[in-house]
Amino acid sequence: MSLESQQHFSNWVASLPKAELHLHIDGSLQAHRLLSLARKNSIELPYSSVEEVEAAYQFENLQSFLDLYYLGASVLIDEDDFYHLMMDYLLKCKEQNIVHTEIMVEPQTYAPNGVSFATMMSGFQRAISDASEGWGQSVLLILSFLRHMSEDECIQALADAQPYKGSFVAIGLASAENGNPPKKFKRLYQMAIEQGYRATAHAGEEGPPQYIWDSLNELKVERIDHGVRCVEDEALLAHLIEQQIALTVCPLSNTKLCVFDSMQQHNVLELLEQGIAVTINSDDPAYFDGYLNENFDALHQSLALTKAQALTLIENSFKASFLTQSDKDTYLAALAAHC
Ligand code: HPA
Ligand code: ZN
Repeated sequence: MSLESQQHFSNWVASLPKAELHLHIDGSLQAHRLLSLARKNSIELPYSSVEEVEAAYQFENLQSFLDLYYLGASVLIDEDDFYHLMMDYLLKCKEQNIVHTEIMVEPQTYAPNGVSFATMMSGFQRAISDASEGWGQSVLLILSFLRHMSEDECIQALADAQPYKGSFVAIGLASAENGNPPKKFKRLYQMAIEQGYRATAHAGEEGPPQYIWDSLNELKVERIDHGVRCVEDEALLAHLIEQQIALTVCPLSNTKLCVFDSMQQHNVLELLEQGIAVTINSDDPAYFDGYLNENFDALHQSLALTKAQALTLIENSFKASFLTQSDKDTYLAALAAHC
C-alpha cells in the first residue's frame, strides 16, 4: 500500500464524526502529564523522562500492563489533577472528531491514595462541562469496578457512588480477567441494574468464551468490552449475531497486550463480515501508542480495512452507545451527511 493511499485513508477517517465506547480515563494519562503530576505531588516513579516512560510500555499480557497502569494512576491526587486528566483526553476527542465518548472511571483505583469520590468527580465534571460548553462535546460516564477486588468491596464502591448516581449511565467491570469470573459479581450487577444503571463488562479479552456467556446471562450486560475470544464458540457467535450484541474491540490494545501476535492476525474484520456488531476503540491510548484514529489507520495498513467497513464500524459505535434513540439518530444523520 502506498504512503499516499495510507495518508488519504487517514485524513478521511480523521474527518468523520465518530464515537468511542471503550476508554479508561486512567489509560489516557500521557507521559508528560504523568511526570509533571508526579513532580507536583512528590510521588516517586522509576522514570525521569518521557522517553523512559514510553520505553517501559512493553507488555507481555494484561497483568504486566495493569501493574504500570495502577502505578501511573497513583500520581492523581487533587481536583486539578483529575481536571487535567479528563481535559487532556477531551481535547484529543476534539482533535480526532470523537463527537461522543463513553468513559470508564474507576474510583477504586484512587481510594487507597486518599482521594475522595468528591475530589475525583468535581475535577472530571468541571472538564466535561468546559468541553461541552466549549465545543459541544458529548460525554457519558461508566462506573467501572476492579474485578481483582472482592464483590463486597465493589458493592461498597457502588454505595460510595450513590451521591453521584446521576453522573453515570452504566457500570462496567475491568482489571485482571482470568481468575475473576463474571459470576463473582452477580449480586453487584443485580443491585446496580435495580438502581437504574445500564451494564457492560470486559469479557473474552484474555478470559474464555464462557465469561462472555456469563456476562450476558448472569450479569445481564447490554454489550461486551473486547469479546474477541468469542470466535472459539460457534453457538456464542450465532447468539451475538442474532441478538446484535455489540463488542467494543480495541485493536492496538490487543496487539500491545499480546492477545494477538500481530495486527495481521486480528479477527475484528472477520467478526464484522460475519455480522457481529463490532466497534473500534482505543482502551488505554497513552499506553498503547494510539488514539481512535490510529486504531483505524492500523486496521487499514495491516488488514486493508476499506472505507465501507470503516463506515459500518463507526455507525455501529453510535448504535451501540448508551445514548437515547433520538441522539443516536442525530449523530447517524450527521455521519451520513458528512459522507
Ligand atoms: N482489560 C481489563 N482491564 C483494563 C484494561 C483492559 O484492557 N484496560 C484498563 N483496564
Ligand atoms: Zn478496557
